[in-house]
Amino acid sequence: MKDVNANTEAKRLAGEAAAALVESGMLVGLGTGSTAAFAIAALGRRAQNEGLQIDCVATSFVSRTLGLEHGLRVLFLDQVSRIDISIDGADEIDSDRNLIKGGGAAHTLEKLVHSMSDRFVVVADLSKRVERLGEKFAVPVEVLPPALAFVRAALKEQGAESVELRAAVRKDGPVVTDNGNLVLDAKFGPFDAPALEDAIKRLPGVVESGIFARTRARPGDCILGNPGHASGFERF
Ligand code: 5RP
Repeated sequence: MKDVNANTEAKRLAGEAAAALVESGMLVGLGTGSTAAFAIAALGRRAQNEGLQIDCVATSFVSRTLGLEHGLRVLFLDQVSRIDISIDGADEIDSDRNLIKGGGAAHTLEKLVHSMSDRFVVVADLSKRVERLGEKFAVPVEVLPPALAFVRAALKEQGAESVELRAAVRKDGPVVTDNGNLVLDAKFGPFDAPALEDAIKRLPGVVESGIFARTRARPGDCILGNPGHASGFERF
C-alpha cells in the first residue's frame, strides 16, 4: 500500500514543476494522488494569480473535487477527445518510463486520460524509481464484480504469486472504484511489462490494469522532486 504522507517536499517540488509547464488555452488532465494534488493546487494558484486560462478534465472523483476546490474549470471527460497535457503520479517508474499506477484505484481513467494527451508528465519522488516494475508494488487490476473469481484464478495462472482483493479503509469490505468495480492487487515476480499488460488486458472481465507500458499512456517526461538538487527536481 502506498504512503501518501511520505516525501511530501519532493512531491510538492515535482507537482509544481509540472504545473509550470502549462500554458493558457490548454486543456489539462488532472491526475490522482498526493503528488498530483500539488500540481492541481499550483494550477489553481496560477489561475488566480497569473490569470492562467485553462480547462481541465479529471481522472477521478477526488481529482475533480480538488480541481473545483482550487477554482479550476473541470469539464466532463466525455466532452473532449484530446487533451494538451496531463500530469499524474505513479507508484513505480522504470528506466524506460514504464509505470505501475493504481495506488488510488483510479488507473482505468488515468490510462484513458493520459492516452488522450499530447503530453503526459509523471510527477513523483525518488522512491518511485525502480530497476524493474513489480519490485515493491503489486499490479492493480480493475475487475467487473461478477468476474472476480475467474480473474483471480487467471492471474495466478499467469504467474502471480499472490492476488489480494483490495480492502477499503474506514468501510467494511472491498474498495469499489469510481466505475463501480473491484480491484485485485496481483504480485508478480520479475515480468516483461508490455507482455503482461497485454495478457491481463485480454482476460474477459478485466477493465484495466495498472501497468502503463504499451499504450499511449506511457509518459514523455518524468519529473522527480529532489530537495537536494539545485532546481528542486530531476528530469528524465
Ligand atoms: C492513483 C495513482 C497515483 O498517481 C499513484 O498511486 C501515486 O500516488 P502518490 O502521488 O500519492 O504517491 O496511480 O490511482
